Amino acid sequence: MTLMRLIYASHPFGFDDLTLANILTTAQRHNAEKDITGTLICREDLYLQLLEGDREDVQALYEKIKRDDRHADVTILVQEVAAQRLFPAWAMRHDPAKSWMWTREQVSAGAVEDATRDEVLAIFVRLVAEQPGHLSGLPKSCPVARSRF
Ligand SMILES: Cc1cc2nc3c(=O)[nH]c(=O)nc-3n(C[C@H](O)[C@H](O)[C@H](O)COP(=O)(O)O)c2cc1C
Repeated sequence: MTLMRLIYASHPFGFDDLTLANILTTAQRHNAEKDITGTLICREDLYLQLLEGDREDVQALYEKIKRDDRHADVTILVQEVAAQRLFPAWAMRHDPAKSWMWTREQVSAGAVEDATRDEVLAIFVRLVAEQPGHLSGLPKSCPVARSRF
């Protein structure tokens, strides 16, 4: 399998708690079946989703998501082969947009679409690093070092 990472941004259409809950329920069920993982960052003005999994499955899912009328202006920001998953334990995590991400003014001025690949990826890397229990810098294959924490 070729592990692929795809990150896109879009603008929610009809954003509310029920809509979001429905999206996440579907995502978690479908993604678990396909071994797709990732996270959906959301706010009234922004969806920013990272999808990772087998290339064909991720591409097929993206084609479906792109046509979903619960959002608009779907724009791919990162699409690449990945060495490893950033969210291996999450069929689809949900992350509310954080204060250190873009402001609403920046989003409406197009800052998300203008961001570089590294800037976009850094957002997700920071989310992973902020996870409780995250062992920053320790490789998974280093059980002795990990057990000290
Ligand atoms: C912002 C957003 C993110 C979504 N993320 C996923 C996802 O990760 N996995 C998924 O299966 N569907 C996701 N969906 C829902 C899909 O667009 C689609 O409705 C769902 O996969 C069911 O499609 P189907 O009935 O044709 O199988 C998302 C929709 C939106 C608007």
